[in-house]
Amino acid sequence: MAVTTVYSFLRLAAFFVFALNVSFSTAVKHEGFKTCDQSGFCKRNRAFADAVASSSTTSPYRISPESATFANGQFRATVLKTIADGLTVHLPLNVTFLKSGLARVTLDEERRRTGDIELRHGSKARKERYNESPAWALVGGLDIDFSAQLGEHGNSDVTAIRYGDNQRNEAFIRHDPFSIYFQRDGETQVTFNQRGFLNIEHWRPKVEVEVEEGVEKPVTAEDESTWWEESFGGNTDTKPKGPESVALDVSFPGYEHVFGIPEHTGPLSLRETRGGSQDAFTDPYRMYNSDVFEYELNSPMTLYGSIPFMQAHRKGSSVGILWLNAAETWVDITKKKGTKSKVDTDTHWISESGILDVFVFLGPRPEDLTKALGDLTGQTQLPQTFSIGYHQCRWNYMSDEEVKEVDAKFDRHGIPYDVIWLDLEYTDDRKYFTVDSDKFHNPAAMHAQLDERHRKLVTLIDPHIKNTANYPVVDQLKEKDLTIKNKDGVTYEGWCWPGSSHWIDCFDPKARAWWKTLFKPDFFKFSTYNTYIWNDMNEPSVFNGPETTMPKDNLHHGDWEHRDVHNINGMTFVNATYHALLDRKPGKPIRPFVLTRSFYAGSQRLGAMWTGDNLAEWGHLEASLPMILSLNIAGMPSSGADVGGFFGTPSSELLTRWFQAGAFYPFFRAHAHIDTRRREPYVAGPPYTGIMAQAIRLRYQLLPVWYTAYHEASVDNSPILRPQYYVHPEDEAGFSMDDQFYVGSTGLLSKPVTKEGAATVDVYFADDEIYYDYFDYTIYSKKGFRTVDAPLDKIPLFARGGHIIPRKDRPRRSSHLMQWDPITLVIFLGKSGDAEGTLYVDDGETFDYQSGAQIFSKFVFDGVSSTLTSQDIAPKGSLTDSYRKTMAPVRVEKVIIIGAPAHWADKKHISAEQGKEKMQPKLQFHPASGNKAAWAVVRDPKVSIAKEWKIRFA
Ligand code: NOJ
Repeated sequence: MAVTTVYSFLRLAAFFVFALNVSFSTAVKHEGFKTCDQSGFCKRNRAFADAVASSSTTSPYRISPESATFANGQFRATVLKTIADGLTVHLPLNVTFLKSGLARVTLDEERRRTGDIELRHGSKARKERYNESPAWALVGGLDIDFSAQLGEHGNSDVTAIRYGDNQRNEAFIRHDPFSIYFQRDGETQVTFNQRGFLNIEHWRPKVEVEVEEGVEKPVTAEDESTWWEESFGGNTDTKPKGPESVALDVSFPGYEHVFGIPEHTGPLSLRETRGGSQDAFTDPYRMYNSDVFEYELNSPMTLYGSIPFMQAHRKGSSVGILWLNAAETWVDITKKKGTKSKVDTDTHWISESGILDVFVFLGPRPEDLTKALGDLTGQTQLPQTFSIGYHQCRWNYMSDEEVKEVDAKFDRHGIPYDVIWLDLEYTDDRKYFTVDSDKFHNPAAMHAQLDERHRKLVTLIDPHIKNTANYPVVDQLKEKDLTIKNKDGVTYEGWCWPGSSHWIDCFDPKARAWWKTLFKPDFFKFSTYNTYIWNDMNEPSVFNGPETTMPKDNLHHGDWEHRDVHNINGMTFVNATYHALLDRKPGKPIRPFVLTRSFYAGSQRLGAMWTGDNLAEWGHLEASLPMILSLNIAGMPSSGADVGGFFGTPSSELLTRWFQAGAFYPFFRAHAHIDTRRREPYVAGPPYTGIMAQAIRLRYQLLPVWYTAYHEASVDNSPILRPQYYVHPEDEAGFSMDDQFYVGSTGLLSKPVTKEGAATVDVYFADDEIYYDYFDYTIYSKKGFRTVDAPLDKIPLFARGGHIIPRKDRPRRSSHLMQWDPITLVIFLGKSGDAEGTLYVDDGETFDYQSGAQIFSKFVFDGVSSTLTSQDIAPKGSLTDSYRKTMAPVRVEKVIIIGAPAHWADKKHISAEQGKEKMQPKLQFHPASGNKAAWAVVRDPKVSIAKEWKIRFA
């Protein structure tokens, strides 16, 4: 395919040394990425698990009885690993019970912790197992539950500890062999080391065995071939610390479904990875942030980011774990018939290095898990309003004239958009913070046009810094010694877009402080305060590195090996950029916007992510939905996929359907590869352009819904897109569904069309509540599948009865221009005749909302009294009053009631009140017709959104 050929060529140009290896196919280069079998520690741990499973040997780990203590919410002990007759390895164990009802289990290795080991090759890497993941991933949720107390157990070999809300939870710590069972309400939910796969590869010196010629090498019990050195694709990992993996089996008895551990393609409900069903994968799910070129669908292969959080779900219960480890990690999943249940899910977690650090969540509701995960890893950033509008990107808009032209064309076609993006080519020779002034000869005029129309610019800044003369950024980077180092402690050099490059080490606080200086407009002269940032290639992508990334024996600040921190690395870069943007403007801070490709647990605090280089194929459109749902339930809701597909040229139909789906991605951006044909929504012509424009306008109409959903995510990290199981946790038929979803808590149910030529879709309604077609109010009131019409110009969108949604119905060119527009409330009455909803509003830009400058209203329609009330549920602060005054002119201009009772037909006027003001707005009734619900409209009730009000329909 021409497109991918050229893309390969671009990489080739940057990476000529490896030219001969670059393949010109559309398929992922499997040979460029390890399978479990090719990854020493993964293979060793699978083999260890097989050996344990097939023999009667028990786990060699036991708690030393005299070491065990329990006090102040913490159980401490030393776990002894027997390695030979009488010889043991000491592993300090800590089980901490948290106020949130979570338990945290850590296991370290005493010899490495105390530095009582020798490193090979004169390495100056740190000797300890990496234990700083919490410093990057966690922000809270660690308060200890001091009321946790010893429970009773008939067996003295077991310590039982009750903890959590009303002490519903209980951990049973078995001493010999060591294992832990976690129960809720007397039922086992999660087990550790039940299958005996716990494996902490302890430090040992390398014993050089001299082998005489002709004499066979002595056979040892363990396969040592990958302990001391490992080669792959022409790169050798020197492994100065020897084997140091950490692995554990975690079982979820009675749970058929497990979700999470993004980022992978494939179904939301994770598949088995060994044996089992026909569609089982053969490799474990892998988490090793990588630039996977032309990634394939339906695969456990790693992608650009990882969140090691897994949620298990069964009817009425959700539980989960967070495996806090930043090294390369593999997860095997198998299912079996349970003794007491239909299915038990067993998992096996394998990380290359670091301590064992695992949080156990006992739910029981899906939202209990997301909330607890948010308390630990932080809430989703409340973004600026512009960033939830539509983003227009391509690689590349080549000049300031082109930017202005695209901008103008959007207006000419009446298509709203908020942000235009500049990829790589705006720079001078791929030197970030510079600009190609031949192409961008008058940036000021470009910025002025965007500013005038209240639009923003996003520019790309990557972590690789061109290694070239006369480039102050690289000079400073080296002079200040802020680079990632190779194994010998010398500035690492590798290849990326600019050719030879160095990488900033954002683990180093000095590097982060320096990074801030680069974003000041007097340094980054091309930028203005309306320029925001795209951080790409931060896995990090290194074209000539092993598996397209950095050698594992590279060194970071604090002398930690890259191996230990790899999956966190991308997040540290975004963190640096986030703080640079926060710092760049004097005066009132403005919320930063940063898009990242690589991510880890905690990245949600810093910005949005996207799913990287997808293909303009129907399968990729379809795959984007489970991918984004998985991110949403794993704590990274601000996510999207390249609308239209990055590689290749979508048909007009595919592009149109992608816009319709993309209008429901939390992060909504079209992007395309440099070699693809132009495809801004106005290019296709009728009827496609009109239909794409409609999809984008729907996004803008629903901006209050999206912003309110983002607000919820910023409070308790709740998913912005919610899968069926999350909203209907009792409805087993929906547990594995991942092609339809709800928007926040609004009851809006979207089922994007992802099949070529489809004129209908089968939508699943999970209960007997009324569901309305969003556009024409057709009623669906029976649980089950319904085939609904979905011609090209129709977005299958439904509203579950019982919800009230806020909208802005006046079409505008950008979100900024909608700021003062009035609100329309749409009430979808439920079976009971009631409905509820919320609206969150603030200035969409600053942090004033934290001082009370916000409106948060709860709307309740009570069917019995036929009254709609708006209640103020916002937290108050010093800016509340002044903000409310500013917002006083913003009115509710319309209330639309879907499913309005027939007797309203006779009403002409109803009553509304706000404070002392009494109004008598008109009511217009539209009777039901066929299967379409009756509806009524109240026009201009003259109530402001800034204060409480009431409308009586009785
Ligand atoms: C890789 C990114 O995934 C893609 O979106 C971008 O266009 C290219 N890098 C060039 O910067």
